[in-house]
Amino acid sequence: MPDGPQNRIIRIFDTTLRDGEQAPGCSMNLQEKIEVAKRLEKLGVDVMEAGFPASSPGDLASVKAIAGIVKDCAVAGLCRSLEKDIDAGKEALAGAAFPRIHIFLATSPIHMEHKLKMTPEQVFEQAVSSVRYAKKFCSDVEFSAEDAFRSDPDFVCRIFGAAIKAGALTVNFPDTVGYAVPDEFAARIRYIKEHTPCIEKAVLSVHCHNDLGLAVANSIAAVTAGADQVECTINGIGERAGNASLEEVVMGIRVRKDYFAADTRIDSTQIYATSRLVSQVTGVKVQPNKAVVGDNAFAHEAGIHQHGVLVKRETYEIMTPESVGIPRNRMVIGKHSGRHAFEDRLKDLGLQADGETLELVFAQFKDLADKKKVVSDRDIEALVMGVAAAVPETWKLDHWAVNTGSALGASGTIRLQHRDGRSKKLVSMGDGPIDSIFRAINSIIGKDPELELYEIGAITGGSSSQGETMVKIAWDGRHWNGRGVSTDVIESSIKAYLSAINSMEWELAAGLP
Ligand code: KIV
Ligand code: ZN
Repeated sequence: MPDGPQNRIIRIFDTTLRDGEQAPGCSMNLQEKIEVAKRLEKLGVDVMEAGFPASSPGDLASVKAIAGIVKDCAVAGLCRSLEKDIDAGKEALAGAAFPRIHIFLATSPIHMEHKLKMTPEQVFEQAVSSVRYAKKFCSDVEFSAEDAFRSDPDFVCRIFGAAIKAGALTVNFPDTVGYAVPDEFAARIRYIKEHTPCIEKAVLSVHCHNDLGLAVANSIAAVTAGADQVECTINGIGERAGNASLEEVVMGIRVRKDYFAADTRIDSTQIYATSRLVSQVTGVKVQPNKAVVGDNAFAHEAGIHQHGVLVKRETYEIMTPESVGIPRNRMVIGKHSGRHAFEDRLKDLGLQADGETLELVFAQFKDLADKKKVVSDRDIEALVMGVAAAVPETWKLDHWAVNTGSALGASGTIRLQHRDGRSKKLVSMGDGPIDSIFRAINSIIGKDPELELYEIGAITGGSSSQGETMVKIAWDGRHWNGRGVSTDVIESSIKAYLSAINSMEWELAAGLP
């Protein structure tokens, strides 16, 4: 049974936009970060960490933009324990309804000696003075002892106690390298609670990485030991093997409320749509057997199981798909479906589209329904995403053709229309149809970005499925993602490439860092 008071509310601190986004292959552009931030707000997280303002001008700009939009939860900016970082955090969070400065400094011997080249006393002094500094202009300050699990527990208690005295409202205990095991982690949290001066005045948080696949187990074990806040990410994205997955932590606590005597404020019916959005914007697929949000999480294959579920759902299901926002009713919509059916489906899927976005998505749905008999939920999701996170098009696809075969190279012809009205057509040779077309596009736009990732898949099974292409490009040290969907795989590739190019052109033209 858990320690401490019963029926507690555990705070959820989401760091998808910071720890998640900093993982390789998970970068998002500004528009995508804003879409994710709006979703997290709807999901009901208590805190969203929007970025690391001092790490780059781009991060500062995105934290600023999110701080100006999100009003229903705290927005945190990560800062090293340095005045210049805290100043950047202050600037980025100026427009936030509930700003939080999150300061971190490593406390483990290996980090202090080799990375920081500081003595424990210097670390202690710097931690306390940076909390004091941040407190001058931000009442909500969190202090994290990086690599806390591999630190001397008494040193962590001392530094936490001093940080609380200096004004930290939250102290965070990370297992930065994912080294802990659950019993041991819970015991450590108990120790911290028992030995940190004035701990009752602060929120005790945990932040677990998944290097041994134990991030969720450790986070939940910490809750039983009295932790008040869990830091986590959607789909568990994050540095290396990732962070604790928000959906697993939240549903673990909710489904086993009887055991934990605790809950969170998360609206769990928003979980699936949030997971899908993060997967779509990062291009990082969710494994089919992933707990809570994987494609197979509620699929019953074995006959005995199917029979059991039909007779009484609880025989093999401990939570309903609806409780995490997965519609059980897979109503078919297609060519003959009207606007009401379409809007109902959007609602069932937890997707938001109104005004102009809804008009555009509905028109695209009608086009698609003309080509495909049945439009799947994934198709609809892709349409909404394509419109909601789209940036203004500098280059629009007008026409394309490829010529290819087993004995020849390929030639690609493309005509693009620029925003200013001029049209450009070019033919290029290449190793294959995609290579030839991408080369032609590069010649038209006058830039030669590096293609870092090109991935093609099918949205659903079957030969009538739409092709979905994901690309990542790099130019001048910066990175952009693009997605494209079409019933033709070459066209989906062109659309993906152009969407990355348009993000690049838009951000460069707008002078976004
Ligand atoms: O893993 C970690 O220690 C972190 C801190 C910055 C909180 O991400
Ligand atoms: Zn981390």
